[in-house]
Amino acid sequence: MYAEMKAKLSGVVPDFELKIKAELAAEINRLKTEKNAVILGHNYMEPALFYSIPDFVGDSLELARKAAQTDKDIIVFCGVKFMAETAKLLNPTKTVLLPAKKAGCSLAESITAEDVRELKKKFPGVPVVTYVNTYADVKAESDICCTSGNAKAVVDSLGTDTVIFLPDEYLAKNVAKETGKRIIFPTMDPRKTSDEDLDYQMVGWLGRCEVHDKFTVEDIANVRKQFPDVTILAHPECSPEVVAASDFSGSTTAMIRHVEKTNAPHYLLLTECAMGDNVAAANPDKDMLRLCSVRCPHMNQITLEDTLESLKKNQYIIEIPEDILKRAARAVERMIAIG
Ligand code: 13P
Ligand code: SF4
Repeated sequence: MYAEMKAKLSGVVPDFELKIKAELAAEINRLKTEKNAVILGHNYMEPALFYSIPDFVGDSLELARKAAQTDKDIIVFCGVKFMAETAKLLNPTKTVLLPAKKAGCSLAESITAEDVRELKKKFPGVPVVTYVNTYADVKAESDICCTSGNAKAVVDSLGTDTVIFLPDEYLAKNVAKETGKRIIFPTMDPRKTSDEDLDYQMVGWLGRCEVHDKFTVEDIANVRKQFPDVTILAHPECSPEVVAASDFSGSTTAMIRHVEKTNAPHYLLLTECAMGDNVAAANPDKDMLRLCSVRCPHMNQITLEDTLESLKKNQYIIEIPEDILKRAARAVERMIAIG
């Protein structure tokens, strides 16, 4: 294990740390087989974890698909709570474990099921698309879910003139731009009392990702001044201004694939830091510029140590009340069916 990790990570993780992490990873992999478990790892996992224990790595959509296909008894989700919940929705009879209790998400925390019910009252009959970065009770109030990888396709699939798109303000604005829809944010201006009368095609919410919110067009201008031939990739949770000033925008996996298949003199990823390390480790011949010290505090909760404890003690088990589970699963399954 140590040799394998060293080959990939010698320039990224200090050697003394690699030795300790390799031992932990070997123990996790042994237990994983013993307990007939599968480990899913999001692209934001720190390098030593990302390159050692997951059976599958990927973005939210790919991991949801893998979760739907598994025949293992236990799914250990190395990601955040909404991702583990999505795996549970697709596998209600299996045990789904999240290694850290507190691995949340600022987007998931930005909206409640009651907020969605209020919006539905305000905009009756308008279908609700919910980003997977939400908790199960919010998904249960939705018609269909989407991820950053299929948001436009999901909105297009509805074939309706209007749509409620929750809760990411920036992703909604980016999708509105792509689909040519006029977007309103009913909670943005408290002086307005009758948003129903407004001319809208998309209704958004003011949630933001605390990580992607930090990147600015000034950052991009500064980097371009120093490296005019840089290729800049931004996640669609960045503001529309940042996305417009970048060269490529897509899900975490779409960004990884873009780096793999293009040959630019320099790359800059406007997303979570650990993913930058993972991409740099996989592409030693490519020059990855570093702008960020922006680690998602929620993804950061997931460590090899906690994953080992998780498998040893069967913790923390994801539980979703039956009535919520059925309705939320329908929204996720509809999304998976679209692709
Ligand atoms: P992806 O679905 O693109 O992996 O994004 C998930 C996420 O939480 C990004 O911040
Ligand atoms: Fe949530 Fe942002 Fe962290 Fe992704 S990076 S899990 S959207 S807080």
